[in-house]
Amino acid sequence: MQRIIIETPDSLSAILVGARWEAVTKLLPQGDVVIVTDANLFNLYGNRFPRFPVLKLKPGEDSKKLPVIQKLTTEMLRLGFDRTVFILAIGGGVVCDVAGFLASVYMRGVRCGYISTSLLAQVDASTGGKTGVNLGRIKNVIGTFRQPEFVICDTTMLRTLPDTEYMSGLAELIKTGLIGDRSIIDILENNQAAVLGRDRELLTDLVARSVRFKASVVAKDEKEGGIRRILNFGHTFGHAIELHQSVPHGFAVAAGMEIAARFSLEKKYIGVKVYDRIIRLLRQYGFHGEFKVTPRRVRELISHDKKKSGDMISFVFLKGIGKAEVKKLPVDEIVGFYSNFRDL
Ligand SMILES: NC(=O)c1ccc[n+]([C@@H]2O[C@H](COP(=O)([O-])OP(=O)(O)OC[C@H]3O[C@@H](n4cnc5c(N)ncnc54)[C@H](O)[C@@H]3O)[C@@H](O)[C@H]2O)c1
Repeated sequence: MQRIIIETPDSLSAILVGARWEAVTKLLPQGDVVIVTDANLFNLYGNRFPRFPVLKLKPGEDSKKLPVIQKLTTEMLRLGFDRTVFILAIGGGVVCDVAGFLASVYMRGVRCGYISTSLLAQVDASTGGKTGVNLGRIKNVIGTFRQPEFVICDTTMLRTLPDTEYMSGLAELIKTGLIGDRSIIDILENNQAAVLGRDRELLTDLVARSVRFKASVVAKDEKEGGIRRILNFGHTFGHAIELHQSVPHGFAVAAGMEIAARFSLEKKYIGVKVYDRIIRLLRQYGFHGEFKVTPRRVRELISHDKKKSGDMISFVFLKGIGKAEVKKLPVDEIVGFYSNFRDL
């Protein structure tokens, strides 16, 4: 088990990678605890949950909305919870984003911790303290920064994850490798069978590398004023693709990374060899970018992007494998590049 600490000016979050999820009972405080999960996780693991009231979400992105927060709040009041309650999230990125948001607003804030159950949540969504819900189709536009006290990443839970969701998480793992830890890329290139076979030890190692990198970035810039923006690599186009083509988050990010890599090549920040290596890895893991979203729609969707200010947007480029840099660009240039890219 690896214990990685994320330290920010007013919080300490312990990420326990490779710990058994049942050990959560040792981390919970005395007193009231409420579990937030989704119906899939409850069906698979509910009979082994610690004995506390359970609030169940409908699985999927559609649960990330304010009416769900209202419903959960009503239910918590009905159960008589005051501000000493501890919220334990058991689930993927959706459950963690919703439960974390609920924890930061219920009676102006209560304590929380997560058992992170999807690969995407373990390598990315459950660490770093971002919480949030969507407004209509605008992603994560209502949210907070709130560090959970602990996150358990038990990689044995990934065995029950559906294949598409597993692949979606691999895309975020590739992202971390490309922007910050090239050893992840080497491991993915050379251990395809073990990665696809969900080898527990290998996954624990990969998740720990990813969390360690994210922790180092978040410790420097919790509220995304600067360096943390590199974690959005692939997400400018990825979010547009996710909304337009309704593909799982990671697949959209993989397509967004392909476009961003091509843009980096065109800007001469990376050479052809590096670019080819990135595309080869994406293909190796079955990411064949499909770019159905039109430039006009990209412009519309980018207009809601949190990384935009005025007519400029912060865009994450690669400077090599394991190295990224954020540059401010006019939205016109990004849309123009995308038009040409689609015509290639
Ligand atoms: N807060 C952040 O920093 C951050 C970062 C990246 C992504 N996200 C968000 O994360 C969300 C995506 O997360 P996700 O891909 O985990 O989605 P998810 O939570 O919807 O989980 C995907 C599916 O897998 C199922 N599942 C999860 N764990 C399982 C397991 N162990 N066994 C069987 N089934 C399991 C879920 O029930 C669901 O049907 C998006 O909303 C995205 O915006 C947040």
